[in-house]
Amino acid sequence: MHPLEQLRDDALRDIEDALDEQALEAARVKYLGKSGSVSAWGEQMKTLPKAEKPVIGKLLNEVRNAVTAAIETRNAQFRLQKESGAIAKIDISLPGTPHEIGSLHPLHQMHERGIQIFRRMGFALAEGPDVETEWYCFDALNTPPDHPARNEQDTFYLPDDRLLRTHTSTVQIRAMESAPPPLRVIASGAAYRRDELDATHSPQFHQIEGLYVDENVSVADLKGELEFFLRELFGSETEVQFRPHYFPFTEPSLEVHVRSKALKRGEQWIEVAGCGMVHPAVFEAVNRARGDKAYDPEKWSGYAFGLGMDRLAMILFDIPDIRLFAQNDLRFLRQFA
Ligand code: DAH
Repeated sequence: MHPLEQLRDDALRDIEDALDEQALEAARVKYLGKSGSVSAWGEQMKTLPKAEKPVIGKLLNEVRNAVTAAIETRNAQFRLQKESGAIAKIDISLPGTPHEIGSLHPLHQMHERGIQIFRRMGFALAEGPDVETEWYCFDALNTPPDHPARNEQDTFYLPDDRLLRTHTSTVQIRAMESAPPPLRVIASGAAYRRDELDATHSPQFHQIEGLYVDENVSVADLKGELEFFLRELFGSETEVQFRPHYFPFTEPSLEVHVRSKALKRGEQWIEVAGCGMVHPAVFEAVNRARGDKAYDPEKWSGYAFGLGMDRLAMILFDIPDIRLFAQNDLRFLRQFA
C-alpha cells in the first residue's frame, strides 16, 4: 500500500471516530490544515522525479477529495443531530401565543361613515394642516382682529404666530385658492380650542367641513343636502331643524339640530353643525390671494358647513363622555371592534 493510501485510511478513520464538532475540526487541521499531512505531501511533490509526478499527483488529489468529502458528510451528520435535538424539545401540545387584533377607533369609524355618505353625494376630499396661519383660520374667513375666537384665551398660538386651527373651515380657503369654481369638497380632521376638559368639551375635537360653490347654489340646497346626510347617518325618521345663528364667514348663518326616535336620547334636540351661505367677503379674500376674479360673488354662490364629529359619534354610538375618545381605555375601545 502506498503511504498516501495509508494516510487516507487513517484520516477516514479519525473522521469517522470524531464524536463532536471540535474533534472533527481537529482532524481537519491534522490532515488538510496548512501544515497538515496531506498538505505536506503537496510540498513533497516538488522533489519527486519527473516520471512519478503525474501518478502521485493524481493519487494525492484523490486522497484530498476523499478526506474533504468525508469531513463534509460528518459535519452534515452533526448539524442534523443538533436540529432534531432542538425540534424534540418543542412541545407541540402547548397552546400558541395569541395576537391582539386591533380595530379602528370609534371616531375614525365615524369619519369614514361620514366621508362615505358625502362621497356618494359627489364631494371630493380636501386637506389642510392642523398648524395654520391666521390668514387661513381667521382673516380670509372674514373674522375681524377683535373677534373673541382670536383671543389668546381661546386659541393655541405658537411662538412664530402660527396657531392650531380652531376649525376645519381653513380648508375652504385652501381649496378655493388652489382651484376655480365649481367646487364640491369636504375635509375631515382635528380642530383645537382652549376649552376646559369636561364630559362635552375637549381642547381637541373633530370636524367634517363641507363647501359647495357653483352657479345658483341656495339655502334650499344646503338644507336638502344636510338633511339627506343626517338621515343617512341616523335613520330616515330623523328630524332636522335649522336655527338662525351668526358666523363671520356665512350670511345667512344657521345652526343644525337633530332629533330622532331611533336614538337613545330620542326626545332631545342636539346641535350637530354650523352652516350658511358663503359670505361675499370670503370670495373676495380668496380672489385677492389668487390674484384673479375666479370667485366673482356676482356669478358664484356657495354653501358651507362644519359638522361636529365627536358629537355625532357620541349620538350614534351612545357615548356619554367625550373624554373617553382620548383615554385609550381598552374596555371602551373594544366595544367598537
Ligand atoms: N367653523 C364653525 C365652527 O367651528 C362651523 C361652521 C359654521 C363651519 C358655518 C362652516 C360654516 O363651514 O359655514 O364653529
